[in-house]
Amino acid sequence: MVDYSKWDTLDDDSDDEAATVVVRDEPAPAGADAEIRRAWPTLDKAQRASVTAFLAENELALAYAKQALEPRLFRADEHRRWIRPELLAVADAWRRDARAGFAGVDALCRVEAPGVVSFPALTDDFCDALVREVDHYRRSGLPSRNPNSMNQYGLILNDVGMRGTFSAFLKYVLLPVGARLFGDDRDRSRAVGGEAHAGEDWGGSSLDDHHTFVVQYAKGRDTHLDMHIDECDVTFNFGLTDAANFAGNDLTFCGMYYADTHRRRSATYKHARGRCVVHSGKRRHGALDIEDGERASLIMWTKSSSFRATAEYARRNVRALNHSGEADRICLSYTHDPDYKRLMPKGLQYSMVDDGPLATAAPPPPTRKAWRTVCDEAKLKNGQSRRLVLEAENEQVVVFRHRRKLFAIDNRCAHQGGNLCAGDVEDLGTVLRHRTKAPPKSVNACLEDGVVRCPRHGLCFNIRTGEYVDDPDSGTLRQRVFPVRSKGGKIQVQVDVLRKDGGAAAPPPPPAAGSFRDFLKSRA
Ligand code: FES
Repeated sequence: MVDYSKWDTLDDDSDDEAATVVVRDEPAPAGADAEIRRAWPTLDKAQRASVTAFLAENELALAYAKQALEPRLFRADEHRRWIRPELLAVADAWRRDARAGFAGVDALCRVEAPGVVSFPALTDDFCDALVREVDHYRRSGLPSRNPNSMNQYGLILNDVGMRGTFSAFLKYVLLPVGARLFGDDRDRSRAVGGEAHAGEDWGGSSLDDHHTFVVQYAKGRDTHLDMHIDECDVTFNFGLTDAANFAGNDLTFCGMYYADTHRRRSATYKHARGRCVVHSGKRRHGALDIEDGERASLIMWTKSSSFRATAEYARRNVRALNHSGEADRICLSYTHDPDYKRLMPKGLQYSMVDDGPLATAAPPPPTRKAWRTVCDEAKLKNGQSRRLVLEAENEQVVVFRHRRKLFAIDNRCAHQGGNLCAGDVEDLGTVLRHRTKAPPKSVNACLEDGVVRCPRHGLCFNIRTGEYVDDPDSGTLRQRVFPVRSKGGKIQVQVDVLRKDGGAAAPPPPPAAGSFRDFLKSRA
């Protein structure tokens, strides 16, 4: 059943995107009070990151509170005023009476594609005020972070003092909606207006945290969003801009990240001001190129901490990105697909154009083995990592120095493409000591091997063998390893690079040397 109780004790400070790396001997951050300073030495790394992010957020929120353009947007108790009445009526009924069941789902929701549903949500007045506030903040000179790892333009609303407003919105309105569409079997409706919506349980009955931000698209800024999945359980994406003010930039949905249909298009959705489109965060999606004007979206990445602690979540979430099966061109990702350059014609690369056809692989381009320099020897100290990016080959390699030896593996995590260069490395023996359940044994591993923990979801890989520590025999969850050496004061890795001659047939070898007599015979 829908779990509202978590909001009574919710500690609103977790935010994956805000996590910062904290080293063990780092002093407590500025702004920490006496109590935090006392507790600091006992906190583990994740707790320290959480406290650091919380303090930074509060400082910024306080600074901006004095100069906000629309203070009403920052008042949690006023959130009902900016929600459309039809959504409020249904959400209130669902909250008040668990027996209200699925009444209202048909009237409120529209199925856009399997697992993708939309509904009216925000008033025009709120949408316009929020965009004005974001523009005002950007002119304030106060600092801001990118909304997420892919969008450069926009604002994290949690950072500037609006976390409480959106927590209230989630608690009172979006949680009951999430339960009907992505909640457990008792809460989840199976159809809207007789049409199956194919939503699965992704913790929608117990959403208790959010990362809320605005993204903005325009020519000369972010023009599109590459295909990706979100760092959350359920994504609520609200249009803020009147459709008359932009052209293009439609959202495009493909399959779930583990399915054979992962790279098959399922729907194209045009944003409407105030309307919300909701989907599992694990569904591949992106935004097409903007053709004209500007567009803004409000996005709430919501999570359920209790769902994430279940065995079912662990089972589902450990699957690797699926790159098998047919692919529509529009569903390819230049960030996450190693075969992108083979499947996407050159003239269409690095854009998001809806050109329709199935992607067909060009034959693999001819390559040769070559050593490429990563950095100077002195630039990679023990315990550090450096990344090499090969643009033409769409290749990324990360080199680690662990116990004074060098190791090189694929930088993109085999799980969902996380950046392993930003991960921490520990001995395999240390990692195993902290496990409650011993993972299966690997005949190849030894306890002093380095293990990198992916910063995105925490899966661990042996940097010598590339094995996934919890399942060394996994066919899909395994990092490629590369030869690495130190030569002439430089660290180099051996990679496959494109041949400059395009693979033209090599000139015939010179005739084997023979005697002068043989030569004369051959000319006779
Ligand atoms: S992307 Fe999920 S653990 Fe690396």
